[in-house]
Amino acid sequence: MLNFAIQTARDAGRLLAERFGRTIEIANKSEIDLVTESDLAAERLIIDRISTYYPRHAILAEESGAIGPADHERQSDWRWIIDPLDGTTNYAHGYPCFCVSMGLECNGRLELGVVYDPIRDEMFTAERGQGAALNGRRIRVSPTPKLASALLCTGFPYDVRERNEFARHFANFIMTAQGVRRDGAAALDLAYVAAGRFDGFWEEGLKPWDVAAGALIIEEAGGRVSNYANEPLDIFTPPILASNGLIHQEMMGVLNS
Ligand code: IPD
Ligand code: CA
Ligand code: CA
Repeated sequence: MLNFAIQTARDAGRLLAERFGRTIEIANKSEIDLVTESDLAAERLIIDRISTYYPRHAILAEESGAIGPADHERQSDWRWIIDPLDGTTNYAHGYPCFCVSMGLECNGRLELGVVYDPIRDEMFTAERGQGAALNGRRIRVSPTPKLASALLCTGFPYDVRERNEFARHFANFIMTAQGVRRDGAAALDLAYVAAGRFDGFWEEGLKPWDVAAGALIIEEAGGRVSNYANEPLDIFTPPILASNGLIHQEMMGVLNS
């Protein structure tokens, strides 16, 4: 199933890359939350592929919600959790930072994840217990020991204007870390933590399809993923704190100060 996920994410990513720069925004899901034709076309490709090869698997996809065979036919222990285009705002503006994210869970436990960036042709993958890889080569989180020398990443949720806490956390991190970035594609941000490019990441208000694959890739790369109370991450219940493990407590301290 990992090979299937890799091939499907690659094909969906290729579709996104081909249309990049000439995409059409077709709707606003909220004041600043867009959907484009490419989100829908990539999601269609992925759902069609899963329905053909794994017709009894359930699917949770950003644009279509929960879909799949009728409940009585469903092999409900397997469920794909899909973001066909993570980074839609970037994509719609021609900013080349976006990805396809596919996670697969069995009885609620994540078993594999792939995050594909078609612009850089970077495929981040993990299978539970098998480690994490970038284009087939093993990756590990960074050895950065302290927040003061850490490069962090965060994201602004679409309802950021209603979230007072966010600005305080952001201000505190830019005063304590070496640097903070906001790249605009949460699944890719998490993959970058796994690859040691970022040392930590935090965001409120993410959805399961933003984090399912990336969270497993980080854990398999030796990192740590939790909520802001240091409890195990529930992908359905944001917020998320992800790190190389070494700076986790320090980041938790900032988020709870
Ligand atoms: C968004 C991106 C962004 C994050 C938002 C997400 P979308 O996903 O991951 O980085 O800050 O919270 O909703 O809408 O581009 O799939
Ligand atoms: Ca997303
Ligand atoms: Ca999306």
